[in-house]
Amino acid sequence: MTVTRKAYRAAILHSIADPAEVGLEASHEYYEDGLLVVDDGRISAVGHASELLPTLDAGIPVEHYQDALITPGFIDTHIHFPQTGMIGSYGEQLLDWLNTYTFPCEKQFADKGHADQVAKIFLKELLRNGTTTALVFGSVHPESVNALFEEAERLDLRLIAGKVMMDRNAPDYLTDTAESGYAESKALIERWHGKGRLHYAVTPRFAPTSTPEQLTLAGQLLKEHPGVYMHTHLSENLKEIDWVKSLFPEQKGYLDVYDHFELLGERSVFAHGVHLCDEECQRLAETGSAVAFCPTSNLFLGSGLFNLPQAERFGVNVGLGTDVGAGTSFSLLNTLNEAYKVMQLQGARLHPYKSLYLATLGGARALRLDDRIGSLRPGNDADFVVLDYKATPLLDYRIQQSNSIEETLFVLTTLGDDRTVRETYAAGRCVHQR
Ligand code: GUN
Ligand code: ZN
Repeated sequence: MTVTRKAYRAAILHSIADPAEVGLEASHEYYEDGLLVVDDGRISAVGHASELLPTLDAGIPVEHYQDALITPGFIDTHIHFPQTGMIGSYGEQLLDWLNTYTFPCEKQFADKGHADQVAKIFLKELLRNGTTTALVFGSVHPESVNALFEEAERLDLRLIAGKVMMDRNAPDYLTDTAESGYAESKALIERWHGKGRLHYAVTPRFAPTSTPEQLTLAGQLLKEHPGVYMHTHLSENLKEIDWVKSLFPEQKGYLDVYDHFELLGERSVFAHGVHLCDEECQRLAETGSAVAFCPTSNLFLGSGLFNLPQAERFGVNVGLGTDVGAGTSFSLLNTLNEAYKVMQLQGARLHPYKSLYLATLGGARALRLDDRIGSLRPGNDADFVVLDYKATPLLDYRIQQSNSIEETLFVLTTLGDDRTVRETYAAGRCVHQR
C-alpha cells in the first residue's frame, strides 16, 4: 500500500501537558524552525527541521511557511449550531434571551433544508477560525443533527453532537416528550456514533427544560451506549440556579440534580459552571466530568466570571467553549482574549501556555480524545492550523517587537481572530485556506 506523505515547515508549538500540573516550561514543545510530517492523515513525526529533513525521501513535498506558527487545531467544547443566525442578539440575560431570541431561531431547524444550509455555514465558520473539533448542541429536531453530521462526514471532521432533549418549560413547537426524546436520540446514536470521526452526545438542554422522567431516560441512554457523551448546561446564571432549586427541591443543588439522574462521568461536559461551590467542584473532579469555560458568552449575557483557579484547585477538567450564539465569536483566539480579561477581573492571570492548553490539549482531555487530537504527537490525527504572523498590519508590527515565543503567543491570543488563521487541516487535508 502506498502511503501519502507530506511535510510542513514553520515554527511549531504544541501543548503536551497542563501547566497547572507540570509547570509552564514542561507543558509545551516549541521548534523555531520545525517540521511536521503527515502520513495518510496522521502525524508521523514532529521536531526540528534540521533533524527531520534529512530523514525524508527525496520527492516528499515540503510546504514551507514563512512568518507562521503551526499549532494543533482548536477544540471548542461548547457551541450551538442552530444559534448561528442569532449571534449578537441585543439586551437580555439568559432566561429572557432564550425566550426572546433563541427558541424562535431554533424553531427553523424543523426544516431539513434550512438545517442543511446552516450546517454548511456553521462548519465553514469553525474551519475559518481554526477549530477542527467541536462539541455541538443541535436543536430538538433530529434533522438538525443529521444535517450537521452529514456535512461533517463529508469534510472528515472529528465532531461530537446531539439533538436537544427538552420536554417542558419551552414553547410547544420546540418540545419533545420523555419517550420521543429517548427514541430519537437512540436512533441518532445508532446511525452516527462511531461513524468515521463522529461521536454522539446525549443532550438534555438544562435541568429546567427536562422532566425527571426525561433526565432518567437520558441516564438510561448513557448506560445503554457506553462511549457516548453527555452535554448540558450548569450554573450559568443566578436566576437559572434559583429556578432549578424550585423545580428540584429534593436535590442539594444544581449539580446534584444531574448527579441524581446519573449524568456525571468521564464523558460528561457541563457548559459554564460560573457559580459553583467547592463541593460541586469536588464532585465534578471525582467523577471525571468536565466544564466548558465560555468567557465571551458569560460576559455577553452578564452571567458572571468563571473561577478557573477554583476549578484547577480541585482538578476539574476544563475546556474552552465559544457558546455561540450567546458567545460572540467563533474564534477560540478571540475567546482566549476574553478569558484573559475574566481572570484579570478576579485578580488572576491566564498565562499564554495555559491558554494554548485550554484551546487544544485541555479541550481534548475534557472530551477524552487526547489519544487522537489536541497535540501534535506522532500517531495523532493531523488536525492542525497555520497561524499567520502577518495577518494584519498591527499584528505584524507587534510581533516584530516580540522577544519570545511566549510573548508572540500572548499577542496572537490578544489580537488574533479568523484573519490570523491562514490554513486549517483536518485529517491531513486542507479544509480552509484564507
Ligand atoms: N441554557 C439553556 N440553554 C442555553 C443556551 O442555548 N445557551 C446558553 N448560553 N445557556 C443555555
Ligand atoms: Zn450553551
